[in-house]
Amino acid sequence: MPEPFKAVKITDRVYWVGAIDWAIRDFHGYNTSRGTTYNAYLVLADKVILVDTVKAPFRNEMMARIRSVVEPGKIDCIISNHSEMDHSGSLPEVIAEVKPEKVFASKMGLKALSRHFHNGLEITPVENASSLEIGGANFTFFETRMLHWPDSMVSYLAEDGILFSQDAFGMHLASSEHFADRLPMDVMQREAAKYYANIILLYSQQVAKTLEKLGELNLDLKFIAPDHGPIWREDLGRMPDLYKKWAAQKPNMKAVVLFDTMWGSTGKMANAISEGLIEGGAAVKVMPLSSTHRSDVATELLECGALVVGSPTLNNGIFPTLADCLTYIKGLKPKNLVGAAFGSYGWSGESVKQLAAMLEEIKVEPVGENVKVQYVPTSDDLERCKALGLQVAAAMKEKREDK
Ligand code: FEO
Repeated sequence: MPEPFKAVKITDRVYWVGAIDWAIRDFHGYNTSRGTTYNAYLVLADKVILVDTVKAPFRNEMMARIRSVVEPGKIDCIISNHSEMDHSGSLPEVIAEVKPEKVFASKMGLKALSRHFHNGLEITPVENASSLEIGGANFTFFETRMLHWPDSMVSYLAEDGILFSQDAFGMHLASSEHFADRLPMDVMQREAAKYYANIILLYSQQVAKTLEKLGELNLDLKFIAPDHGPIWREDLGRMPDLYKKWAAQKPNMKAVVLFDTMWGSTGKMANAISEGLIEGGAAVKVMPLSSTHRSDVATELLECGALVVGSPTLNNGIFPTLADCLTYIKGLKPKNLVGAAFGSYGWSGESVKQLAAMLEEIKVEPVGENVKVQYVPTSDDLERCKALGLQVAAAMKEKREDK
C-alpha cells in the first residue's frame, strides 16, 4: 500500500517534498526538543529538479511526497546544497532509483560527497556565483563556505524568487505547518536562536561576510526555503537581520550562572552571586546543570554578557556536568563575555582553579576574585559571593559601553 505522504505546494511549480522527524531529540549533542524536518524541494519546470534530499531513514517519506506530484523516475537533476548526512544520507539510493542526468554540488561538495559514499557518484561541480538554466528554471549558486561546512552553498531560483538556503536560517522544529507565517513567532525565534547558537555561532565571522555578499546581490526574494523548519514567504528580512545581530555578538546586560552542586553549598553560592548580579542591574539566568541541557546553555549565552560558573570539588576535579558543558561551549567560541568561578569543597578544593582555567580557554574575561568555600558557606561567604556578582555586573556594563 502506498505511503500517504503528500507534497506541499509553494509556487505553481515548486513543492516541499521533505520529511518530518517528530521523534528526534538528540542531534550530535544538541537537544532537539521539538523534533525537526529535513526539507527537500521539487521544481517541476520543463525538467524536473530535486533540491536536496533527506536523512537515509526518511527516504520513503520523501519519495512518497515526490510521487504525489510526479513519478520519481522523471527527476532529471538533483542539486545537493550541503553534504551533511541529514541532507545527503538518502542521495546514493535516490540516484540509483531515479537515475538523474546530472547531480550538482559545489566543488567542495563534490569532494565531501565522494568521501562520504565512496561509490563513484557522478557529481557535476558548479562554480561559485555561476548560473545554470535547467529546463526553464534559472538557478544561481552561491558558495557559503563554513556556513556551516566547507561544501555549503545556497541556490537561488530566479523565476520563483526562492533562496534554497540549506541549513542557514533553519531551525529544528517539527510541524505539520510548513510556512513561517502559520507558526508562533516566539517559538520560531527561540528555535532559530537555538540553531544559531549551537550550529552556526562558531562561524559568525563567515556569517557576517556571507550576508554582506548576498545583500549586495539584491536578489528579488519571495521565499527563503531552508533545509530545516519552516519556509519564509513573508517578513523575509527577519532571519537575515537576526543572523546579523547574532553574528555581531554584542554583549548584553544578561548573565548566565551555570553550576552544579553536591549537598547544596555551591547552589547557595550561585543564588548569592545572582542576587549581586541583579542588584548590579543584570538580567540573570540561573542554570543548574542537574536539570539543564548544554544546548540550552549555548542558547542563553547567545545574547549575553557574562558567564559565571560554579562547581564543588569532586575527586580532585570539577563535576562531570561542568566538564561536559564547558567543553561544548568552548567549541562554539562565544565572544565578549566576562565572568568568574566559584565553588565549595571538602578538603582538596581544586574545582575553582580548574573552572577559572576553563573560562580562560573560552576567552571569558575574568572579573574580581573567584570564591572558594569549605563545606558550607557562612553569611560572610555569601556576602563575598554577592559582591562578586556586583563586580561582574559592573564589568558587563563597562564592556557594553565599550562595544
Ligand atoms: Fe542540516 Fe549541516 O546539516
